[in-house]
Amino acid sequence: MSIGQSGDSLPDGADEPWQPALPDYVSKPDTVVSALTAATPVRIGIMAALHDEVAALVAAMGPDARVHTVGQRDYYVGMLMGCECVLVLARIGKVAAAATAVTLIREFNAGSVIFAGLAGAVATHVRVGDVVVARHLLQHDLNASPLFPRYEVPLLGRSHFDACEALTTMLADCASRYLAEGFPHEVSAATRQNFGVDRPSVHVGTIASGDCFVNDVAGVAALRQALPEVLCVEMEGAAVAQICHEYGIPCAVFRTISDRADDSAGVDFSAFLKQVASFYSAGILRRFLSAYALTVAPGTAVSR
Ligand code: ADE
Repeated sequence: MSIGQSGDSLPDGADEPWQPALPDYVSKPDTVVSALTAATPVRIGIMAALHDEVAALVAAMGPDARVHTVGQRDYYVGMLMGCECVLVLARIGKVAAAATAVTLIREFNAGSVIFAGLAGAVATHVRVGDVVVARHLLQHDLNASPLFPRYEVPLLGRSHFDACEALTTMLADCASRYLAEGFPHEVSAATRQNFGVDRPSVHVGTIASGDCFVNDVAGVAALRQALPEVLCVEMEGAAVAQICHEYGIPCAVFRTISDRADDSAGVDFSAFLKQVASFYSAGILRRFLSAYALTVAPGTAVSR
């Protein structure tokens, strides 16, 4: 049995939102208890790299949310927009993200995983304020050559990991709706002008992850040349996608573009996060979860 999971499924025809009954052991940190059963409802694991990105959603879970600490991370279990969710701050970097994804899957029985965060633009047509939804992800700093081809994950025989097509399509649609409906009201004209955000758009394509914050013109140019298909760069997504691939769990990643990965990338990062990106994450995830609750029957519409 997994944390926060009673083993009961949602009773047929029940009107009340299902609240997971929590066994006593949940308060013990680092208890490793796992079981994936086909009969359990799809619980969505939601990961973010930074606190401000999850704060609004934790608040929206309300007082019924339960928090469990495992491996120095707080996992919030509760209902959001009609979906059973586990929300966690993954922290920064591929190791942190991979460890958190494993815990979500093995201890919290997440049946799908969504990652929300920021990224630096790599492709020249991707601009600050745009949203990139991953179709494929790879680790741009992985290089075990000459033993294995550059970028290939040793022993997995692949460099690129696919996001779940159905979840990606839903996220891209929700991001477009957020930019049309929510963004104009939540982010003032002055803030938009301050950060140079002008009529932002949504892109779907390849995201590159690595354990470095890219903030120099030469670095981003080298990345662009080596991997011309890459739209943006961040520090976690491909690690999560690899873990989800290994466990056969559908995943999706979306990123708000905070910078151009050049010399000015770090300058307004915190301000952008607070004044712009935190609205994006919450606005897109709320729409996504509402759509998910309405359209995705547990275990059916998502591809593994
Ligand atoms: N996340 C946001 N901006 C980034 C950058 N320039 N490099 C890596 N990760 C990022």
